[in-house]
Amino acid sequence: MSALLEVRNISRSFRTTLAVNDVSFSVREGELVGLMGPNGAGKSTLFNLIAGVLPPSAGEIVYDGRTVTGWKAHDMARVGIARTFQIPKPYRQLSVIENVMLSAFLREKSIVGARKVAAATLDDVGLADFAESPASSLTVGLLKRLEVARALAMRPKLVLFDEIMAGLTPTEVGSMTSFVAQLPSRGITVIWVEHVLYAIMKTATRMIVINRGKQIAEGTPAMMARDPAVVKAYLGEEIAIA
Ligand SMILES: Nc1ncnc2c1ncn2[C@@H]1O[C@H](COP(=O)(O)OP(=O)(O)OP(=O)(O)O)[C@@H](O)[C@H]1O
Ligand SMILES: [Mg+2]
Repeated sequence: MSALLEVRNISRSFRTTLAVNDVSFSVREGELVGLMGPNGAGKSTLFNLIAGVLPPSAGEIVYDGRTVTGWKAHDMARVGIARTFQIPKPYRQLSVIENVMLSAFLREKSIVGARKVAAATLDDVGLADFAESPASSLTVGLLKRLEVARALAMRPKLVLFDEIMAGLTPTEVGSMTSFVAQLPSRGITVIWVEHVLYAIMKTATRMIVINRGKQIAEGTPAMMARDPAVVKAYLGEEIAIA
């Protein structure tokens, strides 16, 4: 199967910080790829580059056979790339369903159509009971689900999840893990950044590991747990790679 996404020698610097340094990888349709690395490794920056939130300083991004380097976020969304933000930023004064409708409008022209897609998406992520609640009333766990719903309501082909487990209870982690695991079977390819490693390593078909902006390893979760460079990068952090 040909690659859905190809990242070629991509870099991004912020003044003196080289946040992403010459990273290359590809993702095939239907994969669930885990992207891991310690704090400050460059994971969110990489997502910002792929989603068009930031332009790369160098390198190329090819999506679905098209060079999309430098495209803006709304153009990336239109061709099928959606992302969640590490820190959820809902429109707090709007209701939960209204927040999701704003995403649904990417592909739906009418209010009725957008409401239908939003309601189905809320049902999907287990937020149907909170549809009319103000977004500001949600707990951390529910806010993460809202973030996932906002991305999925865009009907993406490729979704980038940035730490959707942070702050969740063990039960919430379990249900979110099962939810993410079934997305590829629905035609949604996933790249997933997560510090809750046991969840991602159980689910991902392949892992990519970056440290200090550089890709240091790639392979199955089991291979990563044994890779000396990966273990070294995580030394001193309280993370169980198992
Ligand atoms: N907008 C910015 N301006 C300046 N420096 C930035 C900016 N965004 C990220 N950086 C820096 O780039 C590096 C990579 O940050 P990034 O947020 O991508 O890491 P991360 O792997 O997502 O970390 P975490 O696991 O803590 O979320 C860090 O040194 C960070 O301080
Ligand atoms: Mg991050």
